[in-house]
Amino acid sequence: MVEPIRRSTREEREEWIKYANYNLFNLHSNQVFIDLLTDSGTGAMSDKQWSEMMIGDESYAGSSSYYKLKHAIKDITGFDYFLPTHQGRAAENVLFSTLVKEGDIVPGNSHFDTTKAHIEFRKAHALDCTIDEAFDTTLDHPFKGNINLDKLEKVLIDNPKEKIPLIIVTVTCNSSGGQPVSMKNMREVSELAKKHDIPVYYDSARFAENAYFIKIREKGYSDINIRDIVKEMFSYADGMTMSSKKDAIVNMGGFIGLRHKDIFDRASVYNILFEGFITYGGMSGRDMNALAQGLYDGTEFDYLETRIDQVAFLGQLLKEAGIPVQYPFGGHAIFVDAKRFLPNIPKEEYIAQTLAVELYLEGGVRGVEIGSIMADRDPETGLNRYPDLELMRLAIPRRTYTNDHMKYIAASLINVYERRSKITKGLRIVKEAPILRHFTVELERV
Ligand code: F0G
Repeated sequence: MVEPIRRSTREEREEWIKYANYNLFNLHSNQVFIDLLTDSGTGAMSDKQWSEMMIGDESYAGSSSYYKLKHAIKDITGFDYFLPTHQGRAAENVLFSTLVKEGDIVPGNSHFDTTKAHIEFRKAHALDCTIDEAFDTTLDHPFKGNINLDKLEKVLIDNPKEKIPLIIVTVTCNSSGGQPVSMKNMREVSELAKKHDIPVYYDSARFAENAYFIKIREKGYSDINIRDIVKEMFSYADGMTMSSKKDAIVNMGGFIGLRHKDIFDRASVYNILFEGFITYGGMSGRDMNALAQGLYDGTEFDYLETRIDQVAFLGQLLKEAGIPVQYPFGGHAIFVDAKRFLPNIPKEEYIAQTLAVELYLEGGVRGVEIGSIMADRDPETGLNRYPDLELMRLAIPRRTYTNDHMKYIAASLINVYERRSKITKGLRIVKEAPILRHFTVELERV
């Protein structure tokens, strides 16, 4: 599928972004030239996926599309039980309704914002146990998504077992910069969790990109094929939530994969309540077919190599120009270190959001803030949270843009970098929602 994109003038963009209250989510897509807001649901489906769309079975119960997806999930992940949901956060909603209660603690590696919000919405706590190396963007470490086992063990020892319903490992870890978790770390987390009798679930949106990094970077895996690596990864988990809009390359969809029948039975009740009957769960038959095929497309080595190399191509152009980015480059995105890019803006004026607005004004490129706006206020104190990393993410949709687009993006950001000393004022919040505020926040220039 090919779509036209439209160039605009700086004057038009000045007007549009003001009207959008300096929130890039409020822009109309035709006001954006190159859209790097997210890699979620924005990829192009393959010929095989489109063929599958034509033969979807739309029966309410027991459709062949459901069984096709069930078979693909078992084949790729090894999980015997699964529940379809309409997207990743819906999978979180169903799973956490089953497992998480008020006062609980859910340790993990830099939980994604919807994951954290679903935990905090239930008055539970998300505890970040990511390795410290992840928070220094200049440091070269092959697996910056790893969990620090000492931090994790301390949480498991210091709290009663009944308070820790699960550990969540996000692969790859989006919030720390699309960074992978090593197989060794997954194995060790699993051993530690078993010792304390706590289940481990993977937030698996980008599991295939994680498997690619294991193949390329981890000793002993260079000759193992991606699907076998994926199988081994999931063998260390009790279950998974999946946003299929990422590594399964569909525009909409999600699921929960489970090893245990008792959890499946309990979660089925919530699935029916929130998503739909357990053989469709918010998805149409044709979408389940495309998703089943996408799980195979997304775990092809050649595809993964091309995709991840394209992201690195952009990263390299920026790095060579001296722009501070999270290094090594992430799997799905380049994360620009906004604090180092715009050192003259105080943190209270939302540095990464300011940078994202500047990039849009410069070239019509839409990135997204992964920083203090996204971090929300502390639910207990009501104070702004300022995470260690204040990033602007440039997420690359799958099978969509060419390397010429990457060159244009780099040129736009380099232009902003050259005039960075003149950018001294940021933004202030005019209106915000109590949770997941970054989607709807309204801002004005300071
Ligand atoms: N987990 C991770 C690691 C994610 O990146 C996302 C979504 C979700 C869960 C939720 O999935 O959107 O299908 O409900 N990430 C998107 C992004 C929105 O832009 O990174 P969803």
